Formats: sequence, structure tokens, C-alpha cells
Amino acid sequence: MVALPIAPNLELRHFELHHAELLFDLIDTSRAHLRRYLNFVDDASVDSAEDFIRRSRARYAKDGTGNFGVWADDTLVGAVSLFDLSPMHRKAEVGYWIGQAFAGRGIITKAVSRLLDYGFSELKLNRIQLCCATDNPASRRVAEKLGFVLEGVAREDRVLRGTRVSHQVWSLLAADTQPQPARFTKPLGDGAELRLLELRHAQNLLQAVDSSREHLRAFLPWVDGNTKAEHFEGFIKGSLDRFAQFNGNTYGIWQDNQLAGVIGMHGIDWTHLDSEFGYWLAQPFTGRGLMTRAGRAVLSYCFDELNLHRISIAHSTENTSSRKVIERLGFKPESVARDAEWLHDRFHHWQKYGLLKREWQT
Ligand SMILES: CC(C)(COP(=O)(O)OP(=O)(O)OC[C@H]1O[C@@H](n2cnc3c(N)ncnc32)[C@H](O)[C@@H]1OP(=O)(O)O)[C@@H](O)C(=O)NCCC(=O)NCCS
Repeated sequence: MVALPIAPNLELRHFELHHAELLFDLIDTSRAHLRRYLNFVDDASVDSAEDFIRRSRARYAKDGTGNFGVWADDTLVGAVSLFDLSPMHRKAEVGYWIGQAFAGRGIITKAVSRLLDYGFSELKLNRIQLCCATDNPASRRVAEKLGFVLEGVAREDRVLRGTRVSHQVWSLLAADTQPQPARFTKPLGDGAELRLLELRHAQNLLQAVDSSREHLRAFLPWVDGNTKAEHFEGFIKGSLDRFAQFNGNTYGIWQDNQLAGVIGMHGIDWTHLDSEFGYWLAQPFTGRGLMTRAGRAVLSYCFDELNLHRISIAHSTENTSSRKVIERLGFKPESVARDAEWLHDRFHHWQKYGLLKREWQT
């Protein structure tokens, strides 16, 4: 759901598992165009596309790099990737390809440019390398248009279908550019947005919780035990593992570049197509409809993008503000679980709710 916007109707998106067929079709209809320079085309299948998507997710969860779909007018047209990240030397390599029907329109140049911004501004890279076969003029032109500097030729450094191929090595340094801030986000309006929660946000999370401990501990059992950035790193690592395994996404809710809270899915049951989510907001950000907008965005991702059938949610029967958000989102009350949670000094009942896809659509 979070995307890296490039221009109206052009953006980079994380791949979802259900994109595997789209990805395979794109490769399949462009075989002749792609196979001249890329090895993976020969063995392409829906399964290999799915494998590629799984590896992309895992890489993003590990270090923020990976493969990203290029979407133009809501159509998957190609892919760009950041790979071979070296955290010590703050460098990585960029790669790209586009379906034949979409080539020659400047899309890849724009998509790679945005990915470079992301690499320099978010991942704080110092050097990004680009290699293109010495007989690939379109790719060479992309490097030139993006301001890369040609460093030389790596002679016969790769094998393409049994033939040794030499590559030009190009590089761009952070100092060569004025990177524009580039993040994967879902705008919510009025300066608010969702961003996938990542390890570098642990300190922001600690600050948000510290600013609101009394307010949060009233209904959240974990608040007292989470007092250091390391505690939040543990939570974020668990969230990123779920992201890597297509088992639910956890987002930071940001208001004017300040982390205001979290909304996350607690796993996905792919047999029954259901998930459950939870959320919290630091006190200064409450009372402005922010959680309702964040909830709508996550519900849209669950139902419209992932095609889930049912979402559940629960809150302490004493939590009036959470009840209001849940009702505004259209959830239906289903049952009360008595004494479902021990919180500080006594048990609380939980009001449980559900929302079905058909109810969301109406
Ligand atoms: C390389 C590739 C991604 C470029 O995509 P694209 O959509 O053509 O990229 P853009 O439109 O942004 O820019 C391409 C530039 O190359 C130029 N170009 C295209 N073919 C060319 C050729 N045969 N000779 C010289 N220039 C050429 C275009 O005119 C354009 O430059 P311009 O804007 O100055 O006119 C695409 O050709 C592709 O997918 N090729 C197969 C896979 C591949 O080679 N990947 C890169 C591996 S390093």
C-alpha cells in the first residue's frame, strides 16, 4: 500500500504475492526485448516470479533494498532494484528493466531517478553503481541522463547464455546529486501519512510513547515494559519478519514528519482470508480523525489490494475513543469476551468486532 510516488500516475510499489502472474505476463510478452541483456528471462515462470517477489520482500525487511514494481497508470510496466548493499561502505548497485510496450517513454529514467533519491536520502548511501553491457545503448543512455560518471569497463565480468560479456561501470556519489526526500508512503491528507515501520524508527517510537505513557498505559499492557529504543527494535524486527513473510504490515502513522502512532496487522490467515489489527496514537495527535483515516487506508489495503474477506478488531469495553474509531470504520459488534485481558490491577472485558469485505464495499 505504501508507495514511492514519482509523478501523477507513476510510482514504485512493493511487490505483493498476487503480482506474480502480472510480473510473469510482463516478462513473457517482452522475452525477445529482455533476453538480450538479462539472464533470468529464459527460466521465467509464475513460480520464479513469486520467488523473486519473496526475495524482494525479505531484502527490504533486512536492509531497505530489493526489487520494486514500476506502476504507470495502475499498470505494472517494469521493475527497478537496489542490491548488493554494503552498510559499511554505504554503497549499493542499481538495476532496471521495462516491458517492451512501455520502453522509450522516459519511464525508467524517472523510476531509477526516484530510487536513487531513496538510496541517498533514506538509506544514506554514498555511492550507487550501475553496470550495463557494453553493447546496450539504451541502458547506457539511462546512465548518462541520470548523471552517472563512467569509470571504466569490467572486462568479461559476467556470462550471458554461455557468452562472456563486458560491462561499463558507472557510479553516482551522494555529493554528485541533490537528492529529493523519497520515502515509501501512503498519504492520509493534512500532512499525515503511513510509512512501513522500519528499524531506523525505533527512537521515534520511543519518543512517541514517552510523550504519552499515562494516556497509553490505560489500555495497552506493553507500555510499562518498553522503556528503551532496543525494546522497540525488537517489536519492529517482529513486524518486519511478518512483512517479509506476507503475514501483515505494520505502519508508523506520521503527522508533519513526527511519528504519531502505529497501526498494524497481527498476521494474516490466508486460508480463511482474515486478519486482525490494532493501533495506538500518542495523546497530542488524538481527536483529529487521524486514526480513522489511517484505519481506512489499512482496510483498503486488506480488502482492495490483498482481497481479504474479514478483519477483526477488539478493545476493552471501557475504551470509548477506540469504540468510536471502530464504529466509524464500519465494524459490526459481534461478542463480548469476559475478563479477556489482565491490565495493571484487574481484568477487562473485550468487545469484539468484525468487518467483511462486502460490508466494506458498500
Ligand atoms: C534499458 C531499458 C530499461 C531502458 O528503458 P527505456 O524505457 O528505453 O528508458 P528511457 O526511455 O527512460 O531512456 C532510454 C534512452 O535510451 C535511448 N535509446 C534507446 N535505444 C537506443 C539505442 N538503440 N541507441 C541509442 N540510444 C537509445 C532513448 O532514446 C532514451 O534516451 P533519450 O531520452 O535521450 O531519447 C530498456 O531498454 C530495457 O528494459 N532493456 C532490456 C533490459 C536491460 O537492458 N536492462 C538494463 C540492464 S543494465
